[in-house]
Amino acid sequence: MPFPFDRIIIEVRTAAVDPVLSQPIDSITREWIMCGIVAYCGHGSAVSALTDGLARLEYRGYDSTGVALNPGNGREVKFVRAAGRLSQLLVALTLDEECNFRIGIGHTRWATHGAPSTTNAHPHRDCTGKVAVVHNGTIDNAVMLRTELMADGHIVATEVDTELIAHLIEDNLSEARAHEVIEGPDLLVAAVAAATRRLQGSWALAVTAQGFDCVVVTRYRSPLLVGESEKAHTAASDVLGFELDVETIRELNDGDIVSLSSRAVWVDAHGRQIPARAPLLGPGPVAAATLDGAPDFTSKEMAEQPSAARHVIDTLGGRLEHGRLLDDLGLPLCCRVRLVACGSSFYAAQITARVLTRIGGIPTRVVIASECTADVNETDTLTVAFSQSGETADVLSAMDAWPRPWLAVTNNPQSTLARRADGVLGLGCGPELGVAATKSFTAQVVAGSALAIAMSAAHDRISGAELARLQAQLAAVPDRLAATDEQVAPIAAELAAELAHQPGWIFMSRGAGMPYASEGALKLKELAYRWVEATPAGELKHGPIALVQDQTPVVVVQAQPAARLAVNVAEVAARGARIITVGGGEDANLPVVAADEEPPWGPLEAVIALQHLALGVTRHLGHDVDRPRNLAKSVTVE
Ligand code: F6R
Repeated sequence: MPFPFDRIIIEVRTAAVDPVLSQPIDSITREWIMCGIVAYCGHGSAVSALTDGLARLEYRGYDSTGVALNPGNGREVKFVRAAGRLSQLLVALTLDEECNFRIGIGHTRWATHGAPSTTNAHPHRDCTGKVAVVHNGTIDNAVMLRTELMADGHIVATEVDTELIAHLIEDNLSEARAHEVIEGPDLLVAAVAAATRRLQGSWALAVTAQGFDCVVVTRYRSPLLVGESEKAHTAASDVLGFELDVETIRELNDGDIVSLSSRAVWVDAHGRQIPARAPLLGPGPVAAATLDGAPDFTSKEMAEQPSAARHVIDTLGGRLEHGRLLDDLGLPLCCRVRLVACGSSFYAAQITARVLTRIGGIPTRVVIASECTADVNETDTLTVAFSQSGETADVLSAMDAWPRPWLAVTNNPQSTLARRADGVLGLGCGPELGVAATKSFTAQVVAGSALAIAMSAAHDRISGAELARLQAQLAAVPDRLAATDEQVAPIAAELAAELAHQPGWIFMSRGAGMPYASEGALKLKELAYRWVEATPAGELKHGPIALVQDQTPVVVVQAQPAARLAVNVAEVAARGARIITVGGGEDANLPVVAADEEPPWGPLEAVIALQHLALGVTRHLGHDVDRPRNLAKSVTVE
């Protein structure tokens, strides 16, 4: 398959200064919020552009959706909103009629404040119904603004802070009109600018209004991009929100305001017209993500794991000698490594840490991003953030706590994390639309292992022969993943059907197998909503074994030391557990094609079997594989 992100971006950055608060950005507490914004102004159908963009941004949240369509020429703005997924919005849209709209804004929401209802869905409007606003972020002074606006006679219809922005813009428009100072897009820009001067908190905003044939967008501490193609000017929360024909994408700085009409006009936080910001680096950012006959994105992305691993190896595998990879990334060789991540990415980071310490003897620690505190004064340390999305708020905040250099290992080289890091190791696995990490996890393990080998070689901790042996082991990974997939998929589906209704499971392993057991357990939790305990096998007797009763499924990821793991298996078997072994042995219940000798990154092939098990249980229970409840692909809230 073609990979849209196929190169490593090397950049050195300096600390930016917040244009509104005049402080270095790193000294400001940042807040991030879920949800996705799209905006369109062009010659094509706004409805198609908005709904296609929202479909690709749904991974950011899918509690409710909505669009505001502006017919232009002073006619009324049409609002269409729905609780639930985009499919509900599509039902509410009368497409024939609405395909004629050329200007619009749209939003998909992950509820943080206020129920995921139609009323709370964006876009929000002012008292007149003329101003439409979509917003990502939180307004900290919402209580004060609400009181003030209501005292001034505004009818505030919802609990959502975004609505207050619409009323502020309404006030500013009528005041400016009363004085007849400006008109056209400049008037809406001025009204939006004045409204944001009243706000405290964070926002990415898109605004359109009756009487204005444009969309105005702005941001402060919440990401927003604008795109340009031959037929339209657009805006989106991230690159996936753009149409496939987008040619240039630029990122707004905090405080920038852009009006999108037949052209894009940029104004800075002080209202001065400025040149458009530089286009983002990188090749065509939007790759068409289609099912291509697969039943869902998750299974399609699982099947892409061998090619995802191969891509990483082809890109990095030849650059492991003498730390060439680090030189290419523009990074110094540090004595210590600190790895930071959340969820599946955290398990990939744990595996990388193991490789660094096992083969390189490099002091390494792994930190869950949300638990990070800057209480350890470690110098000469490379901080490596693992984040497939590059937008995870906990990771971004954690990075602020540590001194540079920072390396981002991410599938999104245009993400906030990548833009802020000193070096970027792109995974290049293409869009992962299933909410559960699958191919991005595998690519992270391979990329992390390659990085660890390169650092160990740079520190002269491995001989040339050992390096060649590790490179050969790494090169064999894609074929083993493919063979495992073929072999284990039908067996896992059968086992899943048999065990689907078991409410509580245990996943266990030892050593290098443990992060894979944890990852398999996470997949079963998030996709199939089963209660799962993932525990190092040796810890069982210290508590979790109390959970084992007759037929409790205990999934055992086989790893070294095998003999000690066998003792723990015997302990749970003696208490009636249903043992499911995952490994290379002939008698494994979920047989994988494993290496003869366990590589330093452990039994990676096991993850294929564990994903199939989770997928099978999920399908059997009838849950949505791609969009599990309560989750979102990119967790942009702390
Ligand atoms: C699990 C999953 C999550 C993410 C976590 C971090 O399948 O996808 O646990 O791994 O939210 O996300 P990123 O890697 O985008 O920082």
